[in-house]
Amino acid sequence: MKVVILAGGGGTRLFPLSRQDYPKQFLRLQGGKSLLAQTVERFLAVANPADMVVVTNQVYYHHVQTELRLCGALAAHILLEPAARNTAPAIALAARYCADVLGCGDEEVLFVSPSDHLISPVDGFVNAVKQAVEGAGQGKIVTLGVLPEKPETGYGYIQAGAPCHGGFAVTGFTEKPERSVAEAFLRQGNYYWNSGMYAMQIETVFAELKSHAPEIYNGVAESFEQSLARFEQMPSVSIDYAVAEKSDRGIVIPLSLFWSDIGSWDAIFDALTKDEEGNVLAGDCHAIDCHESLLMSNGRLVAGIGLTDTLVVETSDVIVVAQKGHSQKIKSLVEQLRGRG
Ligand code: GDD
Ligand code: MG
Repeated sequence: MKVVILAGGGGTRLFPLSRQDYPKQFLRLQGGKSLLAQTVERFLAVANPADMVVVTNQVYYHHVQTELRLCGALAAHILLEPAARNTAPAIALAARYCADVLGCGDEEVLFVSPSDHLISPVDGFVNAVKQAVEGAGQGKIVTLGVLPEKPETGYGYIQAGAPCHGGFAVTGFTEKPERSVAEAFLRQGNYYWNSGMYAMQIETVFAELKSHAPEIYNGVAESFEQSLARFEQMPSVSIDYAVAEKSDRGIVIPLSLFWSDIGSWDAIFDALTKDEEGNVLAGDCHAIDCHESLLMSNGRLVAGIGLTDTLVVETSDVIVVAQKGHSQKIKSLVEQLRGRG
């Protein structure tokens, strides 16, 4: 097995802490290790660093190297994409790299993982990974599914069918549905959120791309050098739209542990450790009569008095204060600020 860690995404949903040149995977929440380092460490239980490939681009190269050094995994390969083309081309390039540069056979299983999620405990995760790798060895595309809690529209939804390979056959995959559709899925009950992790053999990656995304397949059909040369011409599309929605080889293995893609400040509040008043305090913060609030300092002292359900995030140039439940609107804020120049 090779572990392919996708660490080339941008994104500013955690603005002002995450920026285009410093995205979520590099953030250290509550002073701990970065999400990328935590991801690498989770896989150290099932793979050596030399069997890991971190796919990113030149802009993030030094951040990736720093994180690998911090978790003693400098032997991991760093694969640099010539441009960001979303996850389908990134995975296609990684498959060609493993085949041509690392000398993997067609049957080698790639376990593909995002680099910016929180998952615990590691034991339960490792068991699910092993199960997924087994199913992938049978030519399946195995995803790890999470029981949905709300009609979140930022996720893929997997419809589970008959039991199969320790999980369920995937009978439908809908990436980022409309809210009404997500609500209907939740009512129906046999749906999982896609955690974004995929296990599949190299030959499965190529065969599925050839059937469902020939432009991407053609880009990587020959050598690794050719793949690099053609990379920028590939369409920018995620593996979820390009393959998962269209494939009939899907298996979902339910993950029964804590998983969060912490895609918003509200999700961060939910995921982090609280004090007795239900507050999340990160960095140099002081709270008096505050409840269920998040105070995060990245330099200056942040002091809150009488706050309830409030999010305060301080950085050297921006301070964001938001009411809990509204943090998805950060996206609009970033767009408006861009307009300001
Ligand atoms: N190398 C590389 N290149 N990595 C990338 C690129 C790229 O161009 N684009 C994104 N990534 C990385 C991100 O850094 C992240 O770790 C991972 O790939 C997933 O990309 P996201 O952009 O975060 O995807 P998403 O959150 O919108 O959706 C995916 O994850 C959801 C769960 O969090 C999908 O798989 C959904 O179906 C899933 O529910
Ligand atoms: Mg994500």
